[in-house]
Amino acid sequence: MSRLQTLLLAQVVAALCAHADVSVSTPKPKKVLDTIMEPKFIPPEEKIGLHWKRSAINTIRSKLQVTINENKAKNGILFIGDGMSVATIMAARTYGGQLAQGIGEENILEFEKFPITGLARTYCIDAQVPDSACTATSYLTGVKTKYGVIGLDGNVTRGSCYSQLYEKNWAPSIGHWALEHGLDVGLVTTTRVTHASPAGMYAHSSERNWESDADVPDECLAMGCEDIAHQLVFNEPGRRFKIILGGGRQEFLPNVTGSTGRRLDGVDLIEKWQKDKVERNVSYAYVNDKSELMKVYNSDELPEYLLGLFHDDHMAYHLKSSSNQPTLEEMVEIAIKMLSKSTKGYFLFVEGGRIDHAHHDSLAHLALDETVEYSKAVKKAKEMTNEEDTLIVVSSDHAHTMTVAGYPSRGNDILGLVDTTNGDDGIPYTTISYANGKAPSIGADGKRVDVSLHQMFTSRNPDYSYPSLVPLDSETHGGEDVAVFASGPWQHLFTSSYEQNVIPHLMAYAMCIGDEQHANCKSSGTNIQSSILYISIFSIVITIGLYYN
Ligand SMILES: *[C@@H]1O[C@H](CO)[C@@H](O)[C@H](O)[C@H]1NC(C)=O
Ligand SMILES: *[C@@H]1O[C@H](CO)[C@@H](O)[C@H](O)[C@H]1NC(C)=O
Ligand SMILES: *[C@@H]1O[C@H](CO)[C@@H](O)[C@H](O)[C@H]1NC(C)=O
Ligand SMILES: [Zn+2]
Repeated sequence: MSRLQTLLLAQVVAALCAHADVSVSTPKPKKVLDTIMEPKFIPPEEKIGLHWKRSAINTIRSKLQVTINENKAKNGILFIGDGMSVATIMAARTYGGQLAQGIGEENILEFEKFPITGLARTYCIDAQVPDSACTATSYLTGVKTKYGVIGLDGNVTRGSCYSQLYEKNWAPSIGHWALEHGLDVGLVTTTRVTHASPAGMYAHSSERNWESDADVPDECLAMGCEDIAHQLVFNEPGRRFKIILGGGRQEFLPNVTGSTGRRLDGVDLIEKWQKDKVERNVSYAYVNDKSELMKVYNSDELPEYLLGLFHDDHMAYHLKSSSNQPTLEEMVEIAIKMLSKSTKGYFLFVEGGRIDHAHHDSLAHLALDETVEYSKAVKKAKEMTNEEDTLIVVSSDHAHTMTVAGYPSRGNDILGLVDTTNGDDGIPYTTISYANGKAPSIGADGKRVDVSLHQMFTSRNPDYSYPSLVPLDSETHGGEDVAVFASGPWQHLFTSSYEQNVIPHLMAYAMCIGDEQHANCKSSGTNIQSSILYISIFSIVITIGLYYN
């Protein structure tokens, strides 16, 4: 090789290396804010290869312990984290770990311990990126429909009263199926109980916003279209729900002086709900706050029916709530305590509904905190139930535009600035940001805003809105798939990638309340009984085999 060739080769290699450096390695050194070559927070054991091999082998061993559970699921619990994208799960896990004084990334949310994970596609039949109404219809009734529509199939026009009244368009929910099979049913949410997600359990509304009669156009009321709160109290299946806990009192009370009620028909639906229980000679309780709820919880004899409305509007964010507002975990605890009395089993729907609201206001801190609260509620449900007879599914209705980006070092504050680099404009940036939302990343001067100069950011005020690329009054949903976590009978069916509307059908299959039935639906469904059956068949086969030999 000539000198020139050698020189050229060296140049090519150098160019390749430089290229590899840009595409593979992370921070650009010249932009380093604070040169941390070795992050502060690497646990010493993580530097040893053997640690990772051992932990992987432990994972293999624990996977090998998982056996196929084809029992009949006596009980089913569906948890939905509204707007809980996969990015939200990762960020909340890290936030939860850092709250507990850990490094963060290693933390595991409760549902991440479930043995089975799948992915659900969330689009509506007329929208690439869905809302909570069409998705609630999907994961609760098993039917995909149009944006903004609840409990009706796609043969409706949003806001058309005529198509709402046409009963063949109605899509009954898994809550309804469960009631028809003699199970008890409950719903728990942190939003108004008339909001889109919980409404999917009981309402048929061509417009998600028709929460009280004040929202329904007069011509629709004249045609006989009922608002969502009215449907919950008077109609099937809502009037037969044993547990209804959440916010939204304003949709149930008349708009009279001194009241926060919004109803214009003058009807007090809370009173009507109680009257219905009196007429049916069943025991009941209505509660307004946490102390009343705890009184019911501690009473010697639990009522058969419980209605709890803890706020006029949505319940307050956990970080901003009064001490007299129950947590999601507390609501789930009393719901399971009451529903567990059912000999035939139960279906419970639980929504962590305010993850979504926090994201819409780009309030990442609150969104992550609500997700941690949601995880605590899942933990409580797991502790109070047995995976031999209770199927728990944890998912989300749709994603959001929040991302976790940059190359922050290990253990860096998930709500803080990326600690390794600034932007190419020399201005620092947050690990968390939104594709769109109310806090534009470009200021009036045309320059990117420097959040480190915002006192609300530096003081960790939970009301601080994280920056976004496209200015929009309300940050939007995201269109990517959501994760599904399952534990309990038939959990293995929840693996792979599928349409969101499959979820209630899978749950109904496990619970023997759908069209498809498995072998254990006939027996009481325990493995012991099916094993005896298999052993008997096996013995007969062996006997016949021996005979013919
Ligand atoms: C669709 O709904 C309309 C009412 O809006 C009804 O007249 C029509 O029969 C429905 N079509 C089907 C296929 O059910
Ligand atoms: C009650 O009705 C009045 C008059 O229609 C309206 O101005 C007010 O906003 C209503 N209150 C609520 C809480 O909706
Ligand atoms: C109402 O229920 C109670 C106990 O559940 C029972 O003793 C009573 O006879 C019932 N009354 C009517 C009118 O059905
Ligand atoms: Zn939303």
